[in-house]
Amino acid sequence: MVLNIMIEHSNPTLGIKEKQALAKAIDQNYIAEGNQTHCFEKELSEYIGVKGGVATSTGTLGLHLALSALDLKKNDEVIIPSYTCRSVLNAVLYSGLTPILCDVDIENYNISFNEAKKVLSKNTKAIIIPHMFGCPVSLDKFKKLKVPIIEDCAHSIGAKYKGQKVGSIGDLSLFSFEGTKYIVTGEGGMVLTGSNRLLKILKKLKEPNSIDCLTKYTYRMSDLQATVGRVQLKRLEGFIRKRRSIAKIYDNAFKSCPVLLPKNQEYSRHIYQRYMIQIQGNINTFIKICLKKGIKVKQPVKPYALHKYLGLPSRDYPNTEHIMRSAVSIPIYPSLTNKQVDFITRTIRRILEDHAK
Ligand SMILES: Cc1ncc(COP(=O)(O)O)c(C=O)c1O
Repeated sequence: MVLNIMIEHSNPTLGIKEKQALAKAIDQNYIAEGNQTHCFEKELSEYIGVKGGVATSTGTLGLHLALSALDLKKNDEVIIPSYTCRSVLNAVLYSGLTPILCDVDIENYNISFNEAKKVLSKNTKAIIIPHMFGCPVSLDKFKKLKVPIIEDCAHSIGAKYKGQKVGSIGDLSLFSFEGTKYIVTGEGGMVLTGSNRLLKILKKLKEPNSIDCLTKYTYRMSDLQATVGRVQLKRLEGFIRKRRSIAKIYDNAFKSCPVLLPKNQEYSRHIYQRYMIQIQGNINTFIKICLKKGIKVKQPVKPYALHKYLGLPSRDYPNTEHIMRSAVSIPIYPSLTNKQVDFITRTIRRILEDHAK
């Protein structure tokens, strides 16, 4: 079977309801940050199960706001994984804090508890924990370290750990609604918290006219964006069902292939923001062959893992190095048709078998 149209690596799922909501917002002059944004903040907080939060212009700036709310001192240390989006490192650097990197687990791409424990010191004042690609981190152990936790849920809105939504377990949590994320507002983010004290600080940091807080951040989300976000949030559980059903098809199709498939952690609901496979052989060749066949496959963290930007030795991050050499993400999103999913499974299965020879 040949499909004539290139299958994109990622696509937002936007439709008539988002268009109608945007048209209504324009008709009613809901343009800048206002009621729509505040409703979006309330609705996401309720969905995740926390006290409240503040919307931001991007997820990166949301992380910066979350770090600012912890009131850390210059050069305090923040532990982050070496394999994640560059934005995480950027947010720590914007804050004048010192990033301390640790390696990740090979099977699920998440920060390794044992490695985090090794780099923990009296100067550690926060840990940023991304739930990578929709797979929840087992947070119980991290909570015992007694260091403030910022859950980075940029990939994991609606994922659950032991029945509880991620984003409701740490001290603060961050969400992103950038165009490739699970629910989208074009660009945008939100910081949530279960703490009344931290919520007050977050609001003050963003409120341009409050007098008792010197540093102000104009990290606003517009009502135009929030109006789309509110519709997307209503559709989220449907998106999760669809992605999980595609993941099941991929699991079955590739189980006898020479690849490492995503690991379903015990007690958790993985939501597959990305369907990651670790392959044998050269990944650039694999990506090129897939493209030739009409499927866009990507290396999600690129061009470098975070330790490279800081000039840290590769030997200290062996799992990250291994993942950078072998892991790619294949298309998974709600608007994929059955025909496209079938084409992807057949084509990639054949390529994997040839590629490993
Ligand atoms: C793990 C992680 N955290 C934070 C961000 C930052 O989000 P944004 O692109 O909205 O700034 C990203 C972006 O891709 C991400 O992958």
